Amino acid sequence: MSVSPSLTPSAAVAAPAPGPTQAELLDFVRRTAGDAELIASLPLDPEGRTWVRLEGPGGSEAWLIGWPPGTGTGWHDHAESVGAFLTASGELKEHSLTARLPTDGWKTLELTEGIDRERRLGAGKGRSFGRHHVHEVLNESTEEHAISVHAYYPPLPQIRRYSRSGQVLRLEQVERPADWQ
Ligand SMILES: [Fe+2]
Repeated sequence: MSVSPSLTPSAAVAAPAPGPTQAELLDFVRRTAGDAELIASLPLDPEGRTWVRLEGPGGSEAWLIGWPPGTGTGWHDHAESVGAFLTASGELKEHSLTARLPTDGWKTLELTEGIDRERRLGAGKGRSFGRHHVHEVLNESTEEHAISVHAYYPPLPQIRRYSRSGQVLRLEQVERPADWQ
């Protein structure tokens, strides 16, 4: 009589340690955004975005980011990383694509109709996203700074930047996180 493999303790030990899930990253950014003292510690600059690196859960990469009025990221993705972000104060807007794009081997892509999404993320509102998520994040306010908390796992290996004209997305450059920050 044999023992079922599912009852063998070594099976669990042999599995690779999983990284934090999207839900765990979202939980982290929500808890962090609730830390009023930390949020208030971020230096704000009317001329450009500001950021502070945070210790994310489970080896993830995390950031506190300040967005003066009228600033945004431009279209980009996060390669193989999953992530989450949440607005701590002010309001951010996210434009995203619901389609999964081919990761390599193209310079321009014509997007089909109906894959654009838009979200307004006021204070306390956030989202998580899966691998190859393509989006841009903006502070469209003319007066108010926004502050947000972001977490990515694995830590960002690269970011692809795109320009967009109508339905055409063009790959402009591939940046290391050091360039992006
Ligand atoms: Fe992003």
